[in-house]
Formats: sequence, C-alpha cells, structure tokens
Amino acid sequence: MLADVAMRVSSPVLVGRSGQLSVLDTALTEACAGHPSAVLVGGEAGVGKSRLVSEFAERSRGKGARVLAGGCLELGVDGLPFAPFTSILRDLARDLGSDGIAALLPGGTTRELARLLPEFGEPAGTSDAGEARARLFEQVLVLLEQLADASPVVMVIEDAHWADRSTRDLLAFLIRNQRALDGLLIVVIYRADELYRSHPLRPLLAELDRIGWVTRMELGRLSRPDTGELVARLLGREPGEEVLETVYRRTEGNPLFVEALLSEGELGSGLPESLRDLLVAGVRRLPEDTQEVVRVASAGGERVGHALLAAVTGLDNAGLARALRPAVAANVLLTDSDGFVFRHALIREAMHDELLPGEGSQLHSRFAEAISADPALVPPGRAAAEQAHHWYSAHDTTWALISAWQAAEESGRALAYAEQLAMLSRVLELWEQVPAAGQRIGTSKLAVLEAAIRTAELAGEFDRGVILAKAALREIDVATEPVRAALLLKTRGHLKKQLGHEDYPADLREAARLVPADPPSPARAQVLEALAHDIHHRPGGWDDAEFRAHAEEAVAVARQTGDAATEAAALITLACAEPLSGDLEGIRSLMAEARAVAVLADDYQPLLRADITESDLLEGMGQHELAAAVARAGITAARRYGLARTSGAVLAINLAEPLVSLGRWDEAGEVIERALQLLPPRLSRSSLWRLSGDMALARGDLDAAAEALASVRAGLEGTRFKDEHQLPLARLETELRLAQDRPAAALTAIEDALDGFDLLRSPRYGWPLLAAGVRACALAATARDQALTTRAGALRDRLRAAAGKIAADGLAQQAHQLTVAAELMRASGPAAGPGPGQAPPGGVRAAWDDAAQAWAAVGQPYPLAAALLRAAEVALSIGDRAGAASRLRRAHLLAEELGARPLSSDITQLARRGRISLTPEAAAADGEATAGTAAPTAVPGEPPLGLTAREYEVLRLVAAGHSNREIAGELFISVKTASVHVSNILGKLGVTSRGEAAATAHRLGLFPS
Ligand SMILES: Nc1ncnc2c1ncn2[C@@H]1O[C@H](COP(=O)(O)OP(=O)(O)OP(=O)(O)O)[C@@H](O)[C@H]1O
Ligand SMILES: [Mg+2]
Repeated sequence: MLADVAMRVSSPVLVGRSGQLSVLDTALTEACAGHPSAVLVGGEAGVGKSRLVSEFAERSRGKGARVLAGGCLELGVDGLPFAPFTSILRDLARDLGSDGIAALLPGGTTRELARLLPEFGEPAGTSDAGEARARLFEQVLVLLEQLADASPVVMVIEDAHWADRSTRDLLAFLIRNQRALDGLLIVVIYRADELYRSHPLRPLLAELDRIGWVTRMELGRLSRPDTGELVARLLGREPGEEVLETVYRRTEGNPLFVEALLSEGELGSGLPESLRDLLVAGVRRLPEDTQEVVRVASAGGERVGHALLAAVTGLDNAGLARALRPAVAANVLLTDSDGFVFRHALIREAMHDELLPGEGSQLHSRFAEAISADPALVPPGRAAAEQAHHWYSAHDTTWALISAWQAAEESGRALAYAEQLAMLSRVLELWEQVPAAGQRIGTSKLAVLEAAIRTAELAGEFDRGVILAKAALREIDVATEPVRAALLLKTRGHLKKQLGHEDYPADLREAARLVPADPPSPARAQVLEALAHDIHHRPGGWDDAEFRAHAEEAVAVARQTGDAATEAAALITLACAEPLSGDLEGIRSLMAEARAVAVLADDYQPLLRADITESDLLEGMGQHELAAAVARAGITAARRYGLARTSGAVLAINLAEPLVSLGRWDEAGEVIERALQLLPPRLSRSSLWRLSGDMALARGDLDAAAEALASVRAGLEGTRFKDEHQLPLARLETELRLAQDRPAAALTAIEDALDGFDLLRSPRYGWPLLAAGVRACALAATARDQALTTRAGALRDRLRAAAGKIAADGLAQQAHQLTVAAELMRASGPAAGPGPGQAPPGGVRAAWDDAAQAWAAVGQPYPLAAALLRAAEVALSIGDRAGAASRLRRAHLLAEELGARPLSSDITQLARRGRISLTPEAAAADGEATAGTAAPTAVPGEPPLGLTAREYEVLRLVAAGHSNREIAGELFISVKTASVHVSNILGKLGVTSRGEAAATAHRLGLFPS
C-alpha cells in the first residue's frame, strides 16, 4: 500500500541512460571538432526520449553550448508549417533581438526569415517562388553557421513524427548540408510507435540513416534494476521486492507508466491496465470543474495560451487560475508565462479522445470563434492555420472552407507549398458541400484550381499538378477563354515533361495555337517562348526556321508588352541555338542584351540563367578562358542571391569544366570540392564527380577514378537520358578500363554506348567518346588476342562510320575530329598489320601534328601533350629522331606540369627507347628553344619564363600590385596556395621580392595593359 506517502511526480535525477548520454556527448564532441554530426532518437511514447535529451542539453549548456529546441505540433498536418523552426527563431529573437539576428545574416536583413517568424515584418518580395524557398533554407543554414561559429550549438527537434512536410524538408536540407556547419549537433526525436507503414517520416529517416554522420538511437525501456531505482527516487525510499515486482510487471520499465502507476497510490488489482487509462485516471481524480477546463484545453492543442483558454471557457484570469490549480498541482498541466502545457502529450490525446463527438465539435467551434474574434490570442502568423484546424475538426464545412482558403494564403507566404497545397485541396474537397462557395471566398473554383496547380508545381507534386490541370481544363470553356486554357496547357506540358510523359509537346503546341497573335499579349510571348525552348531542346535536332520564328516573335511580343522576364528568357533561348562554330560576338551580345533586360526588370533569375547558359556555350565553343570567367562571375552572383547550392552548383560545374580543359587541375579540384561540400542536387553532384574522375584518371589515381565512376553511375541511376551526363560517363568508363589494362571491358563500354545512344545527335559529347573509342580499338588490337583484335576491328569500322557522319561544330570538336582521324590511321597502321587502308607514316605524323596544333589553339594542354607523344612515336618509327625529340620534350614539359603521371611515363619510356634525352640542356644542345630560355613570346599560347599557366596568372596579379589575399579571392584559391605560387614565381624569375617580380614583368612587357 502506498497511500499517504508523499510522492514525487517525477524523478529529480535521470535514471540509467549513461550509455545513451555518452553517445550524445560523443556526437557533440564530433561536432565541436568540426565534423558533421546528428543523432536520431526514437522510442515509444513515455520511454524517456525528451527527458534524456533535455538532460543532455543541460550538460551541453554547462559546457558552453547554445541549445536551440523546438517541437513539432500535431497541428502540423493542418498547414502550420515550420513549427519547430519558428519556435527556435522566436527564442533566438528573444535572446539576441532581431537586430542581433540580422547582424549575423548576409546583407544584414531578416526579410527572408520573416517567412518563418512574422514578427520580423514583411518577407522580401520574390519573382520566383521555387527559388525563394532555396533562399530561405540557405538563410537558416547561414544563421546556424554563424551561431555555431561563436559557440557550439545543439539543435533539438522534438516530436518529429508530427513534423509537417516543410519542416521535414528543411531538416533534411540542414542535415545533408551539415558539412558546412562546423560545431552544430542536430538531435531529432520521434516516437517510433507512431510510425505506421506509410508514415511520411519513414523514408526521411531511412535516407538520413544512410548519411555517414547520422547516428540512430533506439531508446528502450528501463531495465529491472533501473526501474527499481526510478521507483525509489519517486517514493523517496527503497521499494520492497514485492512492490518492485508489481511495478516492473505492469510497466515493463516504461518510465511514464511507472510514474503514472505510482501516482495512483495503490498497486492492488482492479486498476486500469493501459497507460492511457492510467493517465486519464489521474485526471478523473481532479475536481469536476477542473476536469471540465482540462477537457476544453485538450481541444486547443498541447499548448494553450492563458487568454485563449479564458476566452473559450468564459472564465476570467482569476477564475481560470482557480479552476486549473488542482491540475497543475497533480502535474497534469504545467504552466509558464505564455500558457498551459500538458505534461505529457498522451494525457492530452487521451482526454481529447474521450470527448463525445458533439462535444468535440462544439469545443473546436468555440476555439475557432475565439481566434477569429481576436487573432492575437495565438502567436503571430498562426491564426489562419489554427482556425482552419478548428473549423475542420468542428465539421463546419462553410467556415472550414473559408479558413482553409486563408490558411493557404498564409502558408504561401511562408513558402510552405506542401501545406498550401493541402489547404487548397481541402477547399476543393469542400467546394460542392458549401452552397455558393465561390461567393464565400470571393473567387471561382477554377481560380482555386489554378492556384493549386501552381502550388503543386512548386511543391514538386507533379502528378497531382497534372490531375489538377485536367480538372481545371474541364472547368474552362475554351471558346470564350482561350488564353486561360493556353496558360493551363503550358503548365500541364511543363509538368508532364518533368514526369517524363512523352505527350507533353502536344500541350505546348496547342497552347501556342490558342493564344491569338493579335493583340500582342504577355501570354502570347510566354507560350511561344515555352515552345521555342522546347523545340530547341528536343533531342535529334530541330527545324531552325520554325524555332527562330517562335523565339523571335516571343522576343518581339514580350518587348511590346513589357514582359521583361519572358523577353530575357527568349533571348537566351535564341543564343542557345547558335552554332558553336558560329559568331562568338553574336552569342555574347544576345546574352548581354538578355542581361540588360533582366537588370532593368530587377529580375535575378534570367541573370543567373544567362551566366549558366553562356558559360556552357563558351566551353562548348572551346573558349575555355571566357567560359571560366563567366562562370566565376555567376558563382559570385548566385552566392549573393542566396542560391549557392542550386544555381551556384551548376555554375561550379561550368567553372570546373573549362579549368579541367585548361589543365588547371588543382584549381578545378578546389572548385569541385567546394561545390560538393554544399551537397547540391544529384545530377549536379554527378557531373562534379565525373570531372574529378577525369582528373584522377589523367593523374594516374585509378582507385579515385574508379570511385568517381561508381558515384557518377549511382547518381545517374533512374534519371532520364541526357547526353551531357551519359556520354561522358561512357567515356570515363572506357578510359578507366584502358588504364586498368582491361581492353575487352573498354570495348564493351563503347559498344554499349553505340548500341544505346545516338552519337550523331550530340556532337559535343559524342566526339570525346569517339576519340576514346578509337584509342581503345588501337590498344585492343595490340593485345595478342585474336578474338579481341577481330572485335576491335569491327568496332573501329563502326566508329569510323560514325566519325564520318557526325558534325564537328566549333574549335574543340574540330580538335577531337583531328584526333580521331589520326587515331584511326594508327589503328589501321603498323600495329594492325599492313592492309589496304594503311596510311604512309609521314601522313600519320602530320595528322597527329594537326591534332596537336588544334589542341594548342584551343588551349588544352593534356590532349596536346598526348598528340605530341603520338606524333613523336611515328617520327621515331621513321627514323626522324630530331622530330621525335622536340615533340617529346614539349610533351614532357606539359605532362610534368599537369602532373599527368601515366602520360609522363609513356613519354619517358618512348624517350628511353629512342635514346632521347628530355633535359633542357639536351634541348639547348639540339638548338631548341625551351621554355626557360625562350623570349617571352617565343612559344605562342604558352606562358613564358618557365612559368605554369597558373603562375603566369598569379604574376599578372602580383604585377598589378595585388596582395596574396586579393589574389586568392580573385582566383578562387586559398591564401596559402596563392603564397606558394608567389614564392615559386620569385624562384623562377630569380628575384627576391614581389616588387622585383613586378618590375621584371614590366620590363619584359609581359602584361601590356
Ligand atoms: N531515465 C529516466 N529517469 C527518470 N525519469 C525518467 C527517465 N526517463 C523518463 N523519465 C520520466 O518519464 C516521463 C516520460 O518521459 P518523456 O517525457 O521523456 O518521454 P518521451 O519518450 O519523450 O515520450 P513522448 O514520445 O510521449 O514524448 C517524464 O516524466 C520523465 O521525466
Ligand atoms: Mg517527448
């Protein structure tokens, strides 16, 4: 019998759990050491998750960490987005003041964060809702970054099983990007027993679990000895064996259950068996009018403000306090400055479940009415969602519809598209049940559908968007509203395209047909732009006249009607369609025009698109330096717009690619690493991996190349075919297999690519693949394996046929074409045995020299060195030792400078075979000008004075008086790297100071201004 014993309602000390605490401590230590770290804590209700983590949070505070904690609300499902983040921000604002927070953010403004916390004022305007969300997420990330810079931060997200989709998205974003967040530990708590099979948290947990720095912790019940200790702590004395036996048998070590059972005072028979019943029993012992108010409160959510509860119950403050005092004393409710909180969510749930149906509806109506009479009864920004929740729970269809419409607007403001879509769907669901629904919300069903389609697109719910668009088109009379129908069709076409539906072009074409040309309208410009864009991107080429007609009309109409965004988009589309061998200035001026229009309209989206497209086009044209410069400027802009992780990552690819071409591999490596750290979308990641694989291979790091290949392949799995991804993947695989001395596998990679893809449709990525293919054939033919030789011969014929048909557009493709031609001669040359197609050796050497010259012209040192090696090989075979020596020496310098070890070793081997010395002295003795002794302009296209291309670049900045830090900033390298370059330059110039280096550069006229 335990009656009359003064008992504590909960234990003052944490019982057991030392193992779990140390897991959390270790996770924090990891975070403080600069490693990403997150822990997912799951367990059944009442098992002690919150208690464990709050104990840990206390300890962490003691060690100087800042703790940010926020909980998800059950209401989350009703369109109250970002709840835990909102409450974290609110606490922070209380702590630091909104100025304090603003001071931590780029641009010193909290306008983005105002979407989460309306107290921060009006959110920044946005031209593009999709990217606005990326910006918001990035702001949160930057804020955490800044906080964690000052002291370690523990961020706790409680009750994630109730997380709304926006919260889940943001949480996933933060954990994925944790590498950027030194000193931040993220702890996520969820109730494992709530996760039914299709629960939306499940896939997220599974995904996060696969991330290396995420630890998953399943919190189990207390052991029997720990249960004994808990009982002792609660009773204030050791329990007898019999009491412990009963408690342990009944509770199985669930601490909440233990507390509830002990507070019953008796452990005899006849007590309720379930935890829920036990919890309710605790409330039942309260005075009747207290119970009444607790029941009312249960309809208000886990936390109910004082004033709101007063308004709903009709009690004044004193009356309310009097009524609830026993509930607080019995630890059913806790009270703080803002309101009441149920000590445990289960108590609230149990009470709410007990309400009679009519009673529940009535209570929810009262809450809704109170909030609508005075929205200040709930925290800012929540009134609409709370009303929507209460009216819906009250089964009042009319008000449920009206309030859902308002809540949708609120969610849109917070960029919480999934919640917005849920609310719009509810409006549509209730539409037929509410008489004159349109009049009630002042809009038509069609307009709601249109809003829902836009939102579905933003939320990434494309399937749902297509369904909604179908429904919307049924509502429209095309004859009277053709333009409206056209815009719907355009959107549906776009959605279908995202889903990979083949029939999407029909929607775009029909849209263009529906909008009359006269009078000119923005809609006309938009549908034409969409159509032109699509025609241009259709695989397999396009009808240029049709394309141009649409795109040019789009530009003209957009200009006439003042639609700057569409005008800029159409100009960019026009530039894309220019041939790569075409007029550089023409393309650049179209881009400049697009930018000017965008700047006037103050629209950043086309600006970034111009940078992305132009850098890509320039790279395709073989204008690597220009491409790099444009991409670099774009990255800076993307960062400024808060889009480093999305557009910025694409631009990082567009920067790394020309850097790889130019042989500036260290720089490219840094760009790639930095971009990967931001964990950009999958396709971007794939391209970055591929570029780093290319470099690893050229440097002879086959393991790294193989790893990169596997990552690229995994990243592309299940994605739609895109030549820019799949063809370079096939090329990387071919070259890796060759390097691994697996010629048969290399041939397979090429054969598969030829069978699977149509190279003729994409010369830009087709040529490099052909070049790798013919090289594979040549090497396979040298293996003493008859079957392989035969296979290589057949494949070479296929490749030769393809090379004869594929266009070579622009300098880079032409260089590839010459390489393929030379390689094909070799494949049919001496190694393949004499045959009808055999070219005379002099011709083969000339072919390689032509290829080398083309690579030199385009500025790509790696293929240049490779071509020189081949030319030297042929020269040597026909006894031209001097010709071989000069080519080899040049190739050797280039390969050494690149750090291209396999190529270097091929070169030295050939030199050894031909007894050619590669040293500069030998070259001088042969009367050759080497880099070190040459006049600055002796070797066109190559930097003078034995400087590497990068050192030359650094010297230019030194000569212009830049500091190491400025140089680092300008070249996107670290300050340390910059200083290493500077000392190498001083060494090579034989000077001792930057001033002298600058003077030398000026004296030699290296950088005419
Ligand atoms: N190890 C422990 N030592 C002492 N008391 C504990 C321990 N674990 C839990 N408790 C107590 O048990 C009760 C329930 O714990 P808690 O609220 O942490 O459960 P929970 O797992 O967070 O449940 P829910 O999923 O419902 O949020 C609390 O009163 C808590 O103080
Ligand atoms: Mg909890």
